[in-house]
Order: sequence, then C-alpha cells, then structure tokens
Amino acid sequence: MVEVVRERWGGRPYFIFAALGSAIGLGNLWRFPYLTYEYGGGAFLIPWIIGLIVLGIPWMIVEFGMGRYFQSSAPGVFGGIGKKWEWLGWWPVWCAFGITTYYTVVMAWTLRYIGAAATTAWGVGEAGATGAAPFFWEQVLHISSGPEVLGAPVGALVGCLAIVWAVIFLVTFKGIKVIGPVSKYVMITAWTFLVILVIRGLTLPGAAQGLNFYLAPDFSGLGNMEVWFAAFSQIAFTLSLGMAGMYAYGSFIAKKGDISNNAFITSFGNCATSFFAGFAVFSIVGFIMQSLSIPVGEVAAKSVGLAFITWPVAISMMPGANSFFGIIFFLCLFLLGLSSAYFLAYGGVISPLMDKFGISRIKATTIVCVIAFLIGIIFTTEGGIYWGPDILDRAVSFYGLLLTGALACIVIGWGFPASKLRKYVNETSDFKIGAWFDWLIKIVVPAALLFVVIYGGFVQDIATPYGGYPLWVASMIWVILAVTLGLSFWLQKVKTRAPKEVSRK
Ligand code: PHE
Repeated sequence: MVEVVRERWGGRPYFIFAALGSAIGLGNLWRFPYLTYEYGGGAFLIPWIIGLIVLGIPWMIVEFGMGRYFQSSAPGVFGGIGKKWEWLGWWPVWCAFGITTYYTVVMAWTLRYIGAAATTAWGVGEAGATGAAPFFWEQVLHISSGPEVLGAPVGALVGCLAIVWAVIFLVTFKGIKVIGPVSKYVMITAWTFLVILVIRGLTLPGAAQGLNFYLAPDFSGLGNMEVWFAAFSQIAFTLSLGMAGMYAYGSFIAKKGDISNNAFITSFGNCATSFFAGFAVFSIVGFIMQSLSIPVGEVAAKSVGLAFITWPVAISMMPGANSFFGIIFFLCLFLLGLSSAYFLAYGGVISPLMDKFGISRIKATTIVCVIAFLIGIIFTTEGGIYWGPDILDRAVSFYGLLLTGALACIVIGWGFPASKLRKYVNETSDFKIGAWFDWLIKIVVPAALLFVVIYGGFVQDIATPYGGYPLWVASMIWVILAVTLGLSFWLQKVKTRAPKEVSRK
C-alpha cells in the first residue's frame, strides 16, 4: 500500500514554539502597546481579553484542528469539505504571499538598522534626537514625494532584502524538522532581548510617566464601538490567523496530538508577550518626553515611526552603551519578524503548493523565495513604502484576513460542521471543549470579523479613499482583492497532483 507520509513536528514543544513564533511579530511591539494607550489604557485589556476568548482561541482551534483532520494545508482543507470551496483555501494563500513581499522589506530595514546602530549613524545625544527622522526618511528610504513617484530601488535595502530571503530559504527548505528547532532558538533569543530592553527602559528617567500613559485605565470608552473594533482587529491580526499558515502548522501535529490546549498556550503566550513589550515601548516614550520636554502626542508610539524614529531617538539619548542597545533592539525586531515571515512563506504558501502540485519541497521553496524577493524589490524603491507596508497591507492583512477568516468560519461552522470538528478535537486534546464552541464558530466569530471589516473598513474606505491617497492609488486595494480572488477560483480548477513524498508499506 502506498501511504503519503506527512512531515511531523519533532515534539510538542517545537510545534508550540513555531506557532508562538508565527503569532508573535512586529505587531506585538509596535501595534498592541499603542492601541492600549490610545483606547483606554488598562481598560482596553477588557475588550482585548474578551476578543481573545470568544474570537481568537476558537478560531485558532478551527485552523489547527481542520489542518490536522484533513492532513493538509488550507486549500486541501477547503477542497476536502467540498471541491467547490477550494478557492476559499487559496485566497488566504495569496494574502499570505502578499504579506511576505513587504513584511520582509520591513525586516530588511531592521537589518540596515543593525548596521546603522553599530555606529549610531543617525547621531548621538541632541544631534541624534533631531537626526533620527531625516536619517530614516532620507538616508535609509530615500523616500519620494508620494506613491506616484516610484523611483529606483535603494541598493542597500535590496541587499538586505536578499539576505532576509536567504535566511528564510535556509530555515524552510528542509521543512519543519528545521523550522521547529530554529523557532525555539529564535523565540528564546527574542524574549531575552525583550527582557533586556524592558529592564533598560524601566531604569531610564521618565519611565513611570510613560507607563502611566500605557496603562492608566479610562473605562469611559468601553461603550464606544471604536474601542471594540480596535480590540477585535488586533486579536485577529496578532494571532496570525486567516493567513492559511496555521492550517498547515496544524496538519503537522502528530495523529494523537493535542489541539485545544496548544491553541490556549499559543494565544496566551502571544498576548502575554504583547503586554510585556508595552513596558519596553512606553518606558522609552516616557524617557523621550522627559528628556526633550515634549508631550506624549509628539512621540510616535506606533508602527514604523516607533521602530525607526522613536527608538533611535531614545537610543541616542541613553547615557551609555548606545550601540549595544540599538543592536539589541533591531535584532529583536528582526527575530520577531523572522519567525512570522517563514511561517507565512512555509505554512502559507510553500505547503499549499506542495500539497496541490506534488512538487518537491526544495522546488516549492526556491520558487516562492525567488519570486517574493523579486516582487519585494518594488517595495525597496523610493516610493515603495506607500505601496507595500500601506496599500498592499490594507488589502491583504486587513481585508483579506478578515474576509477569508469570516467566510472560513461560516463554511466550516455550518458545512463541516462545527460539532464534528469539536468531537474530533476532543478525542485527543488535554481538555474537552463544550457545545458553546459550535455557536462561537457558526455565529459569533464571523459576526465579529464582519463587524470589524465593515465598521473599520468598508464604511471608511468607500466614503474617503484610504490613507488620503489619490483615488486610483487607494482603489488598488479593491483591485488586489479582486485579482487574488480570481486567481483562487482559477487554482480551484487546476487538477490536484499527488505529492511525491510517499513511502511504501
Ligand atoms: N501576528 C503578526 C504580528 O503580530 C503579524 C502577522 C499576521 C504575521 C499574519 C503573519 C501573518 O506581527
């Protein structure tokens, strides 16, 4: 008899480290702390934890469980429910692929900054405080006046991007037997760096004031829809769900392996990391407020501005070991990004290609890494930041993630259905989940995701073009969504070929 042998995690800890690595990414550091500060401080933890429990964990159980049930990545899972649904497994694959192309460019910036931090190239002391922003925009990005002006690729960034993809290739081309152990070391190192950064931050003058902005609770906003939108959208994003990859990671779990408890551990570990990272971020914000005598509103506390301007400012104002803390910070960012990036590449794209076309791992890995690198060069151009981390990000990591996630839960919840999944998961899990799970998957999770995408997406982006961009630029969001959806239907029509890796029994 010919049996297809699927690769397996070398043990439960490897799976958990890999899943944690995929969830913990740049967003834990540059998105969560800012949202907490912006939407009610400590009070924000309430909607966030509710989102985690009713939305995040059940959804993660779905992705792990369905991947293991069908022993396949996302397209195989949906094709397994019914051939007519296979497209719904491909759509998030395209989104995952899209994310890798610009997420890796942000990682390339962090590599560039590891070099710059070695000499604190943006300046030390007051000079650094004023020099950090122009250094980033002009010297590192060579930023153009707008998305219409693409300009040439920036050589240093293309070089860094090539290194990033070489690393991803090396981690993924042997599959999960390398991804598992690498994830363990990546995560332990990243957490160690985070601890160093938190300790450094908390011992700087002004730290307490910054933490006050982070956590002082304001309960008055809890009746406000926007706060719930922020909490739910963060939960959806931070757990790396809706990006195809978790189905594949789940499919590599051993036949008798646990699902529910792994989902709990991964979700809580991720969220604890976010909460902890907030101490590193806001102690630094407080330090800058005090050192430069400026109000909190003038310190960029999120996203690119936080990582590439606020941190460099703080580093140049530190009393000593500036380069050391600079290197630690950017290495930490790089590692956080790395484990999410190879997750997207391997679980999100490479595994689906292997499962569908029966091609070898080395072939699939080479194709994906080379093509994603070439596309990524577009985002290293002078106008690249507008297109990659902004427009494409909005299309795939906001709309794509939420729409495919909502549809997936509806199809699985009603079509598979949820009760069958629950019984299957309960057979091997450390603890049993109750019938409440079915209703969360059938109704609550899709409703919450659709609320986020309608309230925080369509309503705004249809009324005014996204990001204040010209209409044709903002419209690319709809073009990207339509094209990736079309390509997914096309792939559904392509014949599936049996994988090569078989063993004879
Ligand atoms: N969860 C990652 C973060 O918080 C982002 C991400 C989303 C990564 C989807 C992969 C897939 O940064």
